[in-house]
Amino acid sequence: MACVTLRNVSKIYDRADRYVVKSVNMQIGDGEIVSLLGSSGCGKTSTLRMIAGFETLSEGSIRIGDRAIDQLAPAERNVAMAFEGYALYPPLSVHENIAFSLLRGKTPREQVRARVRQVAELLEITDILDSYPPTLSGGQQQRVSLARALVRHADLHLLDEPMSQLEPQLRALLRARIKDYLVAHRMTVLCVTHDQTEAMALSDRIAVMSDGVLQQFATTEDLKERPANLFVAGFIGEPAMNLLPARVSHRGSRIGVVLPAAAGTDALRLDLGDSARVPAADGLRDGHAVHLGVRPHKVRIGAAPAGDNTNTLHGTLAFNQWQGDQSHIGIHLGGPTLLLVVTDGAVDLSEHSPVTLDLPQTALHLFDSHSGRALLHGADL
Ligand SMILES: Nc1ncnc2c1ncn2[C@@H]1O[C@H](COP(=O)(O)OP(=O)(O)OP(=O)(O)O)[C@@H](O)[C@H]1O
Ligand SMILES: [Mg+2]
Repeated sequence: MACVTLRNVSKIYDRADRYVVKSVNMQIGDGEIVSLLGSSGCGKTSTLRMIAGFETLSEGSIRIGDRAIDQLAPAERNVAMAFEGYALYPPLSVHENIAFSLLRGKTPREQVRARVRQVAELLEITDILDSYPPTLSGGQQQRVSLARALVRHADLHLLDEPMSQLEPQLRALLRARIKDYLVAHRMTVLCVTHDQTEAMALSDRIAVMSDGVLQQFATTEDLKERPANLFVAGFIGEPAMNLLPARVSHRGSRIGVVLPAAAGTDALRLDLGDSARVPAADGLRDGHAVHLGVRPHKVRIGAAPAGDNTNTLHGTLAFNQWQGDQSHIGIHLGGPTLLLVVTDGAVDLSEHSPVTLDLPQTALHLFDSHSGRALLHGADL
């Protein structure tokens, strides 16, 4: 086992004139579980197929430990993959499909039987071991495909949307079991998903991808507390982070932002703290166009005790939706600004009523409106 290194990995398909994967740099530690998360078409499967050897690299290199693998045939790489389209062998039974690579690798038959049984139990498919793929549902075929990858001892396991066809309850159950199995066997895993709950539940770190570009590769906590750019800020977290156009505003030794105001009203100013504590950056000049980021559940309804680490704001209620376990509350802050707030309990407020809000400085993020790059995170001040 060894760590996996992708260096400047890029892909342009023949007859296409654009990068579908662009200069991806990534290092996955030995025994680490990583999820590759992004929207449909962003280049996740292409990345996995290059690592497994089913697509050539247009640029870059891939190593496992000190072994360069990008020029090797798939079978020489010691990489196991569960394919997005399953790719099962129709004339072989489920048992034979799962056992196939072990038998080819000359694993003794008794051991093969025991290992097949173990992954079949893990994935709840013992009852179909004697069936043939064409007679199975999509969810069953998907679990067979996953079993075929998990049963192998390989340097790296690549799982392409391994649970996308399963109903939510089974998915939640298997997710926890699979995680235990991966950890117990110290498997190094790169798992593709577009479900962020799944990525967070399974992985040690998450690689967020958009348009073939790796946007950020970090722990769940860092993706939430320190999103690297506007894309990650808006993509990670449900409901999404509020991202409000604003301008940097210096006032004496303080740094803050002003939000656009309605005609005839004062601009709303939010204080971010002492500018001496903020690293000097071009994007933090007075008047610079920024987006202010605030996660909906970090806003508190009602004024906070006086102090200088928070901002008290006044708005009016636009909507109040009880979701059964939490409330989604929209608040007009004057001008075009609508802020979404999430609270755990029900809130007794009706439309148009005045609302006081408390926005702790630690909950505020600033992004450069032009480049999208993060300028500061309140949690770091
Ligand atoms: N063999 C191919 N030839 C040409 N273009 C391709 C080929 N395979 C994929 N593409 C294009 O490359 C881009 C990335 O595709 P890819 O399958 O890697 O996306 P993905 O992130 O896995 O998406 P999904 O979540 O839908 O599976 C897409 O625009 C796709 O149309
Ligand atoms: Mg895909």
